Amino acid sequence: MSKLFPIKSTIDSRRSVRSYKMIPVDDEIIESIKDFAKSMPVPFDHNVEFRFFNADPTKTLYTVMKSPPNNVAFIAETDAVSISKVGFTGEFLILFAQSKGISTCWYGHYKLSELERLMPHLQSTDQLKESNMGYGYSKGETTGRRAICISPLGYYEDRGLRLMDRITKTTSSFKRKEIKELLENSDDYDKLSDDILYALDLGRKAPSAANSQMWRFAFEDNFKTITISMPVGYKHFKWEHPNVDIGICACHVWLGLIDKGYNPAVTVNEDSGRAVWKISILRQRLAI
Ligand SMILES: Cc1cc2nc3c(=O)[nH]c(=O)nc-3n(C[C@H](O)[C@H](O)[C@H](O)COP(=O)(O)O)c2cc1C
Repeated sequence: MSKLFPIKSTIDSRRSVRSYKMIPVDDEIIESIKDFAKSMPVPFDHNVEFRFFNADPTKTLYTVMKSPPNNVAFIAETDAVSISKVGFTGEFLILFAQSKGISTCWYGHYKLSELERLMPHLQSTDQLKESNMGYGYSKGETTGRRAICISPLGYYEDRGLRLMDRITKTTSSFKRKEIKELLENSDDYDKLSDDILYALDLGRKAPSAANSQMWRFAFEDNFKTITISMPVGYKHFKWEHPNVDIGICACHVWLGLIDKGYNPAVTVNEDSGRAVWKISILRQRLAI
């Protein structure tokens, strides 16, 4: 798996990019990303569809920035586990794209009617009304499948940086909580092996909506199983679907353990309205 792309350097170099050159991604690269989406090697079943679509060079879809030609939508059911799997698999795709030199940005707030125009995917007009004043998918669990998040796929345009992007760049990107602050029980820190700490370090670098970093880590099986979830009752005033972000973080932790030579078992279940991921290296030895 670590042969797919260098894990740590890819995670370290990814940033949300909000300024793109208005040119299409090279054919060979976009085909490799599509192939990856078709046969993504994740250790659990999922129903997430990655739909690639083209957008016009206007600000209609993302509202604050012009869409580059290539984009991808992550489509799934809307229960906690399904949207969390969007996070895990979507981030895997985003990191693969990053390793090919393609910039991305998770978007939870985009103009849903414009997405539907560019990429018809909804099963009823009611689904359009469920968005938050037209932006993204905003209700909790509802019927049918729909785009949960979208991302541009393109080449970073350096000169196009707007003031807002510069502010976001200095205030949000790069800033992450320390591992200790993310442990449900901070006393656990001293009991963690170097390999687990390595995986949690990649986990804490995951992107999250408004950089909220709502994930918390706990342990089972004598610190050989990591659980990742948001605190019970967690709510964010602007972002309605933090279970997506939890899946993104779980993907980073899983990749961190793969990078250390493990083949972790991965499960996700719903508990108190939250997706709870368990990533375990209990039943294995390091590959030599
Ligand atoms: C699930 C999710 C949804 C997001 N939605 C938006 C969005 O609607 N608009 C936006 O500008 N950025 C959005 N972001 C990007 C975050 O602001 C960004 O990931 C965070 O500030 C950390 O910065 P970094 O990705 O550069 O490390 C989203 C990120 C995630 C993970």
